[in-house]
Amino acid sequence: MGLFTTKIPKIGGSGLGRHLTLLDVSFIGVGAIIGAGIFVITGQAAATTAGPAIVLSFLIGAIAIGITAMIYAEMSSIYPVSGSAYNYTYATLGEFFAWLVGWNLLLEYGVATSAVATGWSGYFRTFIETNFHLALPTALSGAYDPAKGTFVDISAFLVILVIFTLLAIGIKESARVNNIIVYIKIAVLSVFVIFGLQHFDINNIRNFFPFGWEGVWHATSLIIFAYLGFDAISTVAEETKDPTKVIPKALMLSLAFSTMFFILVSFTLTSMVSYQDLDVPHALSYAMLKVDEPFLASFIALGAVLTITTVMLVMGLGFTRIAFALSRDGFLPKKLCEVHPKYNTPFKLTLIGGFFLAFLAGFVPLKVLAELVNIGTLFAYFIVAVAIVLLRKKGLVGSFRVPMFWILIPLNFALLMFIMAGLEWHTWVRFALWSGIGIGIYFLMRGRLTAE
Ligand code: ALA
Repeated sequence: MGLFTTKIPKIGGSGLGRHLTLLDVSFIGVGAIIGAGIFVITGQAAATTAGPAIVLSFLIGAIAIGITAMIYAEMSSIYPVSGSAYNYTYATLGEFFAWLVGWNLLLEYGVATSAVATGWSGYFRTFIETNFHLALPTALSGAYDPAKGTFVDISAFLVILVIFTLLAIGIKESARVNNIIVYIKIAVLSVFVIFGLQHFDINNIRNFFPFGWEGVWHATSLIIFAYLGFDAISTVAEETKDPTKVIPKALMLSLAFSTMFFILVSFTLTSMVSYQDLDVPHALSYAMLKVDEPFLASFIALGAVLTITTVMLVMGLGFTRIAFALSRDGFLPKKLCEVHPKYNTPFKLTLIGGFFLAFLAGFVPLKVLAELVNIGTLFAYFIVAVAIVLLRKKGLVGSFRVPMFWILIPLNFALLMFIMAGLEWHTWVRFALWSGIGIGIYFLMRGRLTAE
């Protein structure tokens, strides 16, 4: 067994029933995509990085992620299995790259859960403040930052503990609950756009490029976070009816739908208030307060709290599934994948992982977490794009094929690199550290496996 030994995933061996339809699967996508990215990061990126031109960042992001989603669609039409990019890479580039992708997916799903929790916390605090006049002490209202007097974001910390406890005792969102929450999401964002546009003021967008094109570029690297999560769709392939047809369609539909909302919401937000006011953790509610719509502000805060919770559940579940697969394949200690006799969940890794992620959510700012998630995920997308080229070379074809392959794939490589390059150098250092630790664990665990 070598570093580049490939493993073709076993299709249909999970014993899970196939009951999910195209609508269910598309809604799982929208449920995972629309979250803290649009509700929180958009405001902060508009205020500090792009101004009203944030709309263009969403367009650039849509092209990059659109091509990546097509690659996932083609992959899933060849290998309709759970496990997503980890399995795709294992089947094509072999063990070492599969591990690297899996290790970065832990970052995507795990740290994203922490990042989303800090977004959740901003809206939660607004909601209890505006409706019940309950304000948390400053020290407990934000990540560790002595200059601002904040020490820990206690609500983000606690909500992660609650989510992972639920995951440990086996609470999975059912497709039905997810569908209801997605309808609420659509309602909240539609209300925001419809009422927000009534406060359109041309003066807010006159200075469209306050930070120039460079700002648009850096903002793209930040808001790409909003698009992540569409790959959660490929993790339910084994529970889907007719997956080779349904998964590709659901990927495209959910992404197109979310993109439409991202563009509408970001345009509405920056045209109803000045971008300079948006560096707050609850931008959409705040904008409504600014235009004197307190009821709508509360409605949006409550909607955000409810709907962002599902993103945490889906991402948290993704984290435990990837960690489980890595540990089952011997890349992480086998003890971690022990399944609880009563709850039927990998409870040890869920609780240990949950505690670690709660700590990140409580003490590290959203921007730092989101950038780290972005770089790890974009790296995984990059490797999957290399994998699809190899599959085509081998002559493997699925029922879905990326159109204009030799134009779109190079464009995808260029865009992914361009977006990754727009992240701060601190993020690159953290990413290098994370990858270094991952490579260390790989060789350590491999040594053990060979010795056994
Ligand atoms: N796209 C997801 C969000 O924005 C991760 O919350």
